[in-house]
Amino acid sequence: MNLTSHKTKFISGEVICPGDKSISQRIVILGSLLNCDMKVKGFLNAHDPNSTLNALNKIGAAIEKQEDKVFLQKRKNSFKSSLEDLDLGNSGTGMRLMMGLISGLQIKAKLIGDSSLSNRPMLRVIKPLEEMGALIKSNKGKAPIEILESSISNDFVYKMPIASAQVKSSLMLASLASHNSITIYEPKITRNHTERMIEYFGGKLEYSNNKNGYIKLNKSNLKPKKNYNVVGDFSSASFIIVATLIAKQSEVLIKNVGLNPTRNGLIKVLSMMDANIEIKNQKLICNEESGDILVKSSNLKGIEVPEEIIPNIIDEIPILSIAAAFAEGLTSIKNASELRVKESDRLNAISDGLDKLKIKHDMFNDGILIEGNDNLVDFDGYINSFDDHRIAMSFLIAGIRSKKGISVKNCQNIETSFPGFKATMTKLGMKINEKN
Ligand code: S3P
Repeated sequence: MNLTSHKTKFISGEVICPGDKSISQRIVILGSLLNCDMKVKGFLNAHDPNSTLNALNKIGAAIEKQEDKVFLQKRKNSFKSSLEDLDLGNSGTGMRLMMGLISGLQIKAKLIGDSSLSNRPMLRVIKPLEEMGALIKSNKGKAPIEILESSISNDFVYKMPIASAQVKSSLMLASLASHNSITIYEPKITRNHTERMIEYFGGKLEYSNNKNGYIKLNKSNLKPKKNYNVVGDFSSASFIIVATLIAKQSEVLIKNVGLNPTRNGLIKVLSMMDANIEIKNQKLICNEESGDILVKSSNLKGIEVPEEIIPNIIDEIPILSIAAAFAEGLTSIKNASELRVKESDRLNAISDGLDKLKIKHDMFNDGILIEGNDNLVDFDGYINSFDDHRIAMSFLIAGIRSKKGISVKNCQNIETSFPGFKATMTKLGMKINEKN
């Protein structure tokens, strides 16, 4: 499916942010481990969380879904090996977290994914899981991944070579499911939804009090709860935020956005760029900060993005690049080589799109330098989304500041994270239509 977004004078209104993808996946995994009756509200009903939910049901979980409500049910039987393949679709989080869970449960399963997921690096999870005692076969470190009956050791200590919340969470789930403790050192602080959720259900964690510190998960008996509410996805909100900033005379209120400090680094970065963003109604929902974000059009200025914040804006760099393209001066993003192994090689995908829009930039191995300006972009052909949801949405947002609109090829993967994207942006005043 190809989409075209059109030049938009201004956008305005109020929208409710869709559920957080990372948290939706974690609550069905952790909820299944808790083995209780629990109602989850605000679940992101999109391809990625749904493929994780389906995979869990194939290993014996009892989860039902009605739109954005999920009902976890107490099971009579324990988890079981799956004879059928578990298809995690496009979801790196789904595959890596399920690898940890399945290893910890000491059951067998084969995990597969789409062509993008089958090309993503899995050794970052396979290696430490094997050191913990997991038995794993893979296609040279990539999917398909076959997990055989594993026996996970206690008191494992792991120093992560890369800053990755997926690796951290996978290892914690392996320990949790096998009733063991684990200590993980992370080189930079990454998103901490797994830790927060474990603590919400009464698990015991210890942290070092310096930056490059450790997280220790002690043997814990988690306590079930009847309800869980998923806060809104900051990553989805970021498309609406940048759309408002680059449109003229615009003002938008985004309600119920997750504001976990390990996720919302983009607010800090955009504020450094002189963005007009206000947070209202802050509260804690199921151990996650949330609030409403009021955004107004702004004249953005280019900046050097601080390197330590990169893991906390990693999924927002495509849309940050669009903000940078319409900001005055240079924006530099460094130390972001992880972008090369996301749903697409995102540095390459951003550069390819900016090239077509004639936005001056230099791409490096681990980052990009973008020279922005206030002009409207003038372009006829198609931007390649590289089948990547965040690339597709980013360039569609850039259409706001185009002379003749922007067409993006293969936008179907928007369904993996933000199925209501087109409807939401249309409600705010953008015009986006299908193009053959
Ligand atoms: C995620 C962690 C991030 C992020 C991904 C979701 C998670 O990946 O890019 O979209 O839910 O843990 P890494 O932890 O591999 O950087």
